Amino acid sequence: MTAVIRAHAEQRYQDQLHRLKAADTALAPPGWALSPGAVRRFICGDTALDIPRKYYGEDALVERAIVSLMGNNGLMLVGEPGTAKSMLSELLSAAISGNSQYLIQGTAGTTEEQLKYSWNFALLLSGGPSLEALLKSPIYQAMEQGKLARIEEITRCPQEIQDVLISLMSEKSLSIPELGIAIQAKPGFNLIATANLLDRGVNDMSSALKRRFNFETVPVLKDPALERQLILSQVSQRLADEGQDLKLDEALVDLLVQVFHDLRNNMGSQAMEATLSTAEAVNIVHGCALHSLYWQQPMHAAQLVQQMHGTLIKDKADDVKKLAHYLDAVARDRPGWQDFFLAGKALWMR
Ligand SMILES: Nc1ncnc2c1ncn2[C@@H]1O[C@H](COP(=O)(O)OP(=O)(O)O)[C@@H](O)[C@H]1O
Ligand SMILES: [Mg+2]
Repeated sequence: MTAVIRAHAEQRYQDQLHRLKAADTALAPPGWALSPGAVRRFICGDTALDIPRKYYGEDALVERAIVSLMGNNGLMLVGEPGTAKSMLSELLSAAISGNSQYLIQGTAGTTEEQLKYSWNFALLLSGGPSLEALLKSPIYQAMEQGKLARIEEITRCPQEIQDVLISLMSEKSLSIPELGIAIQAKPGFNLIATANLLDRGVNDMSSALKRRFNFETVPVLKDPALERQLILSQVSQRLADEGQDLKLDEALVDLLVQVFHDLRNNMGSQAMEATLSTAEAVNIVHGCALHSLYWQQPMHAAQLVQQMHGTLIKDKADDVKKLAHYLDAVARDRPGWQDFFLAGKALWMR
């Protein structure tokens, strides 16, 4: 068991990164800890080195993302919430830079200082501007050390703040007029940004900034078999991290995958407002597993219904009607779905 709730990717996968490094005979780009091929194996898996797959989806997407980071442009991962954009950005930085912590979370309140640098005011007042009084932003540190920096949810930042990145990306330097100097980025520096398509359009980004990034759309998983495999592997991993050992009820996972698949694809006007991403599915199964462990009950469809309620419905009352409709129209007659139907009926068809 680890002593923190969530270790950084480079800590969690330290052994795997060592194995990849030891076996890595290919050329690594300047400033990179691993060759592009080894980075790909870290994310897409390698049986010979006992590296499990971490991103489930198109390997070509991962390859393109790695290639983008070798060039002058940054990498922009866009897609719906819960499609593993943040996960990919963390894994890429852990493998390429050995450090995924130069991270800025974009918000409506993100300031230029947070992207560049600010000052320790006590030192500034007592001694005037100096390197000692400078507080370096994660991007500043990444430039200085030749590492990747990550910006999450970039489209949530006001546009004029986003545009600070334009000169930074084209000049690969950051000037500090107060000191009359500019720091120049070392090889290995680049940016990975993520943007959620549902939050606020990527259109809110200026075209000048868009030109500095290669865009990669991370899709929602379409293949139920892959989603099933992902859920089983990630929930087992989470339980193992928590020091728990539980045999997951695979039939229940199959049922959930099918429900998600139906709700995403076949509901037409009954489409739910809730985000039905793989991330939600993982959380639901994890919740069921915890319920079953700590109340010492076998995993059961009733837990699934309760977890679905808490994870999906949130404040969207209309979605309850849609779930009720789904139960009535689809789930009622499915063989083996009786428990799910009855538990759902009790909660959603009152
Ligand atoms: N294609 C996928 N491969 C692996 N894990 C995935 C995938 N899609 C979703 N997940 C799961 O969803 C979680 C949340 O994803 P996250 O990176 O936070 O999404 P985003 O940043 O796109 O909103 C991941 O940690 C992972 O458990
Ligand atoms: Mg994210």
